[in-house]
Amino acid sequence: MLDVRLRAVLSLVKPCTILADVGTDHGYLPLEALKTGVCEQAFAADLNELPLQRARDTFAQSDVKDRVTFIRCSGIRDIPDPIDTVVIAGMGAETVMQIVTEDLERFRRIPQIVLQVNKDVESLRRFMVQRGFDIVDEAIAYKRHYYVVVKFAPTAIPSGYTPFQLKYGPILLSKKDPIFLNHLASRLNHLMDLAHRVSDENKRDAFVLEADAIRNVLDKES
Ligand SMILES: C[S@@+](CC[C@H](N)C(=O)[O-])C[C@H]1O[C@@H](n2cnc3c(N)ncnc32)[C@H](O)[C@@H]1O
Repeated sequence: MLDVRLRAVLSLVKPCTILADVGTDHGYLPLEALKTGVCEQAFAADLNELPLQRARDTFAQSDVKDRVTFIRCSGIRDIPDPIDTVVIAGMGAETVMQIVTEDLERFRRIPQIVLQVNKDVESLRRFMVQRGFDIVDEAIAYKRHYYVVVKFAPTAIPSGYTPFQLKYGPILLSKKDPIFLNHLASRLNHLMDLAHRVSDENKRDAFVLEADAIRNVLDKES
């Protein structure tokens, strides 16, 4: 049974043939993906032996264990072709960007790449878009924190996203997800609070401008 964060991650994975879960740790995501028929085969990969052992334990009693392969490696380095889906969840944006950089050409041949970073999703979006990936879907979940999931696909025609879209998510901004609207509302309060407290005029203007853009989105939804 997945928690709300991993459920949001899996919700963005369209049925596929071979899924690689990078940084799998407990292995919950590939287990659920196999059990629910989201993928036919899976790789559960992790840099470290202890988490990988946790994943093996998760699968030990399962009737899908013959369809998973455990691999100890960094990123997708030692995962054999073909893979048509990569999931990386629960890591820092820097680590994810490093993993993609290490095998950029291979990532550019993978049709669905679902990423969930704990912080700085804006940098991740910018990084991926600058390297020839498009944002094709997004999801958000809340449990004590807001968790944003972004799905990327390689593209020959790069989309031009505004800084506001890169920060909040072009797909999330166009969906009417109540969790996202709550996230925007709390961000709006925070920005207004910052604008009242900051003494630097340029910073205040930037906070007010961003707050106005958020208000615009929220007004359209009400
Ligand atoms: C916090 S856990 C996330 C587990 C799971 N993906 C989730 O979202 O619940 C991060 C895992 O990533 C692994 N990891 C860190 N750097 C990695 C890399 N470069 N390649 C593969 N795995 C890595 C760690 O060993 C750890 O098990």
